[in-house]
Amino acid sequence: MAEEICLFTKDALIIKPPKKSPASLRMLVLVFAMVCGVYICSVCLRQTNIHTSTKFINIEVNQRYCHDNDIDKSQTPYLHYPKPTSFSRAECACNPVRLFTILSMQRSGSGWFETLLNSHTNVSSNGEIFSVKERRSNVSSIFSTLDRVYNLDWFTSASKNQCSAAVGFKWMLNQGLMEYHKEIAEYFNSKGVSVIFLFRRNLLRRMVSVLANSYDRYAKLLNGTHKSHVHSHEEADTLSSYKPVMNSTSLVTDLKLMEKMVLDALEHFSSTRHIVLYYEDLIKNRTKLVDVQEFLGLPQMELTSRQVKIHRGSLSEHIKNWDDITKILRGTTYESFLQTDYTN
Ligand SMILES: *[C@@H]1O[C@H](CO)[C@@H](O)[C@H](O)[C@H]1NC(C)=O
Ligand SMILES: *[C@@H]1O[C@H](CO)[C@@H](O)[C@H](O)[C@H]1NC(C)=O
Ligand SMILES: *[C@@H]1O[C@H](CO)[C@@H](O)[C@H](O)[C@H]1NC(C)=O
Ligand SMILES: *[C@@H]1O[C@H](CO)[C@@H](O)[C@H](O)[C@H]1NC(C)=O
Ligand SMILES: *[C@@H]1O[C@H](CO)[C@@H](O)[C@H](O)[C@H]1NC(C)=O
Repeated sequence: MAEEICLFTKDALIIKPPKKSPASLRMLVLVFAMVCGVYICSVCLRQTNIHTSTKFINIEVNQRYCHDNDIDKSQTPYLHYPKPTSFSRAECACNPVRLFTILSMQRSGSGWFETLLNSHTNVSSNGEIFSVKERRSNVSSIFSTLDRVYNLDWFTSASKNQCSAAVGFKWMLNQGLMEYHKEIAEYFNSKGVSVIFLFRRNLLRRMVSVLANSYDRYAKLLNGTHKSHVHSHEEADTLSSYKPVMNSTSLVTDLKLMEKMVLDALEHFSSTRHIVLYYEDLIKNRTKLVDVQEFLGLPQMELTSRQVKIHRGSLSEHIKNWDDITKILRGTTYESFLQTDYTN
């Protein structure tokens, strides 16, 4: 209304200019016009303000809508709507993201498992990020690393950016995890991080793999390059041509220590939302991958990996002092490790 009046007055001024206005009248009109101008401006500004605040309200409504849209209320603590500082989640801003971590030990199939997960369009599993010592030198640097990963601000070849529905990485038990287990478990619980334990049942096979892998670090059997994972049977055969000699004196103690570490890890993180997987089960039964996708709330997909198993067949072919090892393990709780538990 005020605007209309002003315009009317302006029009009137243009259409019917008084022929001979005295200076004082001109001054009065000028002042009136200025007042009108300021008023219009202030109205305009107020409207812009209203526009911006409406936008804020809309965003909040949207966010609330994101949350409320989820049907299963029990899942709410595990659903996140990260706002990365490095990019916009764009059309996927309202897709919830789950945070996960794969807790495992070296040579337990976690590399292979991670390639399977990353073959899913909506999963970013960012590898062994705590292999770098500075990132685990104290709790605060562990937390700030975790924060960056879980806010989608960590970039690796696995990052899927805006449409990730699950983001995580793999964490080996000997990478600060056991040392700071109390603080880390609290972090997982407060942020709603889902834990995937991935272990190997046959710890003797794991030891063979550890020994062979550490030998190859120096021997570099594949044309002078050290490889921990391979994509062809030829490469696998080359790597497994090396047969480690196992230390028969320390074998049982070593197996016990490994077993204890696994049990401790399961206990330390038992309060978290978790799933326990075994490498052998995943190899034998691919429906386990359906369970994993369900656990991470993902749309089900066929997961694939190009990786090929290095030590296939019977263990007797892969250990140089097989007879000694057999004698030592007979009659112990580890005897079953001597048997071939899968064929491929
Ligand atoms: C934690 O470790 C980081 C990286 O090594 C270091 O820069 C930082 O000063 C440490 N903080 C504390 C509180 O010790
Ligand atoms: C998965 O990714 C696709 C493609 O990037 C996207 O269209 C879809 O919304 C994502 N699904 C979820 C559940 O985030
Ligand atoms: C290693 O070299 C051989 C022969 O030169 C070649 O056939 C093979 O593809 C190479 N392998 C790798 C892993 O580069
Ligand atoms: C085997 O283990 C024992 C006990 O830990 C150790 O004393 C010995 O040096 C080891 N032998 C070899 C060849 O590494
Ligand atoms: C394969 O895994 C699924 C899902 O965990 C399970 O229900 C099924 O019994 C398993 N099948 C075999 C043969 O172990």
